[in-house]
Amino acid sequence: MAGGEDIRLDPWGAIEIKDYNRLFRVFGIRPFIEVARLLRHAGMEPSLHMRRGIIFGHRDFDKVLLAKARGEPVAVLTGFMPSGRFHFGHKLTVDQLIYYQRNGFKIFVALADAEAHIVRRMPREESFRIAVEEYVANMIALGLDPKKTEFYFQTNRDTPYYRLVQLFAGKVTAAEMEAIYGDLSPAKAMAALTQAADILHVQLEEYGGYKHVVVPVGADQDPHLRLARDLADRMHGIIKLERPASTYHKLQPGLDGKKMSSSRPDSTIFLTDPPETAKKKLFKALTGGRATAEEQKRLGGIPETCSVYHMDLYHLIPDDKELDKIYTACRTGELLCGQCKAIAWEKLEKFLEEHQRKLEKAKNIAWSIIETPRF
Ligand code: TRP
Ligand code: SF4
Repeated sequence: MAGGEDIRLDPWGAIEIKDYNRLFRVFGIRPFIEVARLLRHAGMEPSLHMRRGIIFGHRDFDKVLLAKARGEPVAVLTGFMPSGRFHFGHKLTVDQLIYYQRNGFKIFVALADAEAHIVRRMPREESFRIAVEEYVANMIALGLDPKKTEFYFQTNRDTPYYRLVQLFAGKVTAAEMEAIYGDLSPAKAMAALTQAADILHVQLEEYGGYKHVVVPVGADQDPHLRLARDLADRMHGIIKLERPASTYHKLQPGLDGKKMSSSRPDSTIFLTDPPETAKKKLFKALTGGRATAEEQKRLGGIPETCSVYHMDLYHLIPDDKELDKIYTACRTGELLCGQCKAIAWEKLEKFLEEHQRKLEKAKNIAWSIIETPRF
């Protein structure tokens, strides 16, 4: 089950992945470009994140696209731990959900309140509120159609889902789980098996019988996918489950140069940040600029290591030509960081204003469509 070389991805840790090519070599994740040409066969245009190489890898996504081309039902499932506020890192995943929804995929969203409680010690009531008012509301305000999305709390699903969790527990050994996750508490084992049920249960008749499911995640979540794929195989003789497909995106670097995380508010911008707060964060964000203006004009900046450029790349500048201009002007030293931040701010301010205007209504919708757990 484990990878051959001594590298382990920790879905609960704070690792940063420096070398994406190793993931291909060590874990058998395939380069996304290999399947990109099948998108059109399935009637889809590549998304912004596909075009820009942000989605860099996959497992079995070609099978999902071929199924879609044959007219079979296809679904996307992902999950969010409702333990902090919704930020631009989350938006990356939600943009993908919206893209798939517009292309006819059924969308499932797990609100991972069990995981938040048992792994992060989140108080229950607090995580319910965060799940609905932060996660679901922001997703709706971003454009995910609540009528065509199935949101559910992990602790509020029903029998067939839990039946999977229980049966999965007998299909994997402690040694195998440790090879994937490292040191394992009962809490983490439970969270991992629950996540496998998230990924696989939509194949059951009770949930629509979606046999072709893709899970879009950051590469740090791959251990969960490997477990879910093995469990699918091992349920043979009990129930037929297909291996889930997955796509992997590069996590957007934080504004402080470290991993984006809601636990370090200056590393990211929350979609509910007041404009003044967002502006301050953006203007003090780590750039790929040089020490002095003179040096920058002479040597050019380095967009690859610049968190502001990554805001443009991931979110703020959908027009490829416009982004190319920023990139080139930075590299040639024509553009200085102050100006460049001002351009990004103009876009960000407009985005936040519009988004936050939609948010109040989205909150009401969110509360009306989701049932929260009783305790
Ligand atoms: N573990 C994920 C996180 O930390 C949340 C999650 C729960 C999830 N169930 C999932 C992600 C199913 C993908 C698929 O954010
Ligand atoms: Fe980043 Fe812009 Fe500065 Fe280049 S000019 S390093 S893209 S902020």
